[in-house]
Amino acid sequence: MPDATAVKGTRPEGTQSGADASRKVREMFTQIAPRYDLLNHLLSLQFDRLWRARVARLLLPILARSDALVLDLCCGTGDLALSLARAGKARVIGADFAHPMLMRANEKTSVARANSNSAQKHSVVFLEADALCLPFAGGSFDLVATAFGFRNLVNYEAGLREIRRVLKPRGTLAILEFTEPPDNPLGSAYRWYFRKILPRIGAFVSGDRNAYTYLPASVSRFFAPRELASLMKSVGYSEVDFCIWTLGAVALHTAVRPS
Ligand SMILES: C[S@@+](CC[C@H](N)C(=O)[O-])C[C@H]1O[C@@H](n2cnc3c(N)ncnc32)[C@H](O)[C@@H]1O
Repeated sequence: MPDATAVKGTRPEGTQSGADASRKVREMFTQIAPRYDLLNHLLSLQFDRLWRARVARLLLPILARSDALVLDLCCGTGDLALSLARAGKARVIGADFAHPMLMRANEKTSVARANSNSAQKHSVVFLEADALCLPFAGGSFDLVATAFGFRNLVNYEAGLREIRRVLKPRGTLAILEFTEPPDNPLGSAYRWYFRKILPRIGAFVSGDRNAYTYLPASVSRFFAPRELASLMKSVGYSEVDFCIWTLGAVALHTAVRPS
């Protein structure tokens, strides 16, 4: 378990500064973009789809509003953005700093639009942006959601502050992230899979050995759910809450920007 006060942000192996870590994270996702979806679904045994769908269901009261503006931060290939857009009538913007991930997101959205019978074609656009310096005016969004992206920020506190800036007063933040499962036989089995098997399959399919070694390493360095909740409170969020899913493999944190 990391020392919560020592965890400032992600640091892929061999990186010292935040700028170095940010460049490395961006390069890594640029490199694995072509195989990202395949590996995501394969390595999570399709649970990733269920988790995103569950997030969309929980956020339905916001997503159902046609006047709501939603940001999917660190959107990658756009799966959460599409789930959020499909769930309701809100307009969704996906932002990520790895261009090839966004190209995939755009391709997927075009296919979804072409295959959609609904009169309301999914209202979603993607743009390239760094989560720590967003190109949006303060108070823009009713909801900022992020799935498996927040852990990759090089400064978590700065990330939470930037999200708070772009949220409207009473706007909601939702962070879906991997967590370390509890110390019991099932947790140990999961850890063995996550640390020993997953990096090998990931390296084989993606051709990038580092990316899928980075994944379990970054999760074990990341906050325990309670620690992230207390950082969110200290940054000024209210109504901070979290729930843990799938035997402790992931956690969804939610919070509100006070008015
Ligand atoms: C594990 S992927 C998650 C993608 C997607 N949200 C999903 O659910 O599959 C993490 C994403 O975060 C993006 N990312 C990491 N740090 C970022 C930053 N500072 N600004 C924008 N995107 C960032 C990466 O480029 C990558 O696409």
